[in-house]
Amino acid sequence: MNKTIQCWAVVPAAGVGKRMQADRPKQYLPLAGKTVIEHTLSRLVQSGAFQAVAVAISVEDPYWPELEISQHPQVITAPGGKERADSVLSALKALQGQADENDWVLVHDAARPCLTSDDIHNLIATLKDDAVGGILALSSHDTLKQVDGHNITATVDRSQIWRALTPQMFRYGMLRDALQDAEGNPAITDEASALELLGLQPKIVEGRPDNIKITRPEDLALAQFYMEQQQ
Ligand code: C5P
Repeated sequence: MNKTIQCWAVVPAAGVGKRMQADRPKQYLPLAGKTVIEHTLSRLVQSGAFQAVAVAISVEDPYWPELEISQHPQVITAPGGKERADSVLSALKALQGQADENDWVLVHDAARPCLTSDDIHNLIATLKDDAVGGILALSSHDTLKQVDGHNITATVDRSQIWRALTPQMFRYGMLRDALQDAEGNPAITDEASALELLGLQPKIVEGRPDNIKITRPEDLALAQFYMEQQQ
């Protein structure tokens, strides 16, 4: 008998977020009465889509154990790694023995607290029968330029360019192997790029524009605005 395919979430949260110029990693900055990561994890857990959420946390992180959600029965803590891909691989390994090779894993940045349940369920529904998997993405409304320094060398056909968001949804075994194969490769800035390196073509699924990544100080006010709009 075939085992039912289950979904797991992986959250890399071991970055320091230098561009925020804050006194703590950006996932612990306050946002609408909680920290950024508490919003992100609550939304994943409350979506009801996942068996568990594996979170990669820096081993020297003093903030994580202080948060109630770190003790949630569906939240598993794994040690973070040097790069984002190392953190994701570590969290995948923490699911070993529970996740089946063909189960789906949705990898979502801790720094994207405005993710909606609609986007999670739409991604899963669109890709659940796909052989490879895919990612939430956004088309570009701006005209795009290729440059050399500050000189424009070409106008890029924007119909062919999409911005990669998270979650990114792949099979547990395939993603683990792809990340292991690509270990140390600086070109691997998201999960899809590790699968692309193997010659595979992950799909894109249009996501919501309010699924922003907190990167710069002004993004916190924007995230708060989006959360108010979502209510
Ligand atoms: O820095 P950036 O915004 O690209 O990070 C995306 C996500 O990857 C963040 O949630 C961050 O905490 C995580 N990350 C990680 N381990 C690293 C670097 C980044 O888990 N070594």
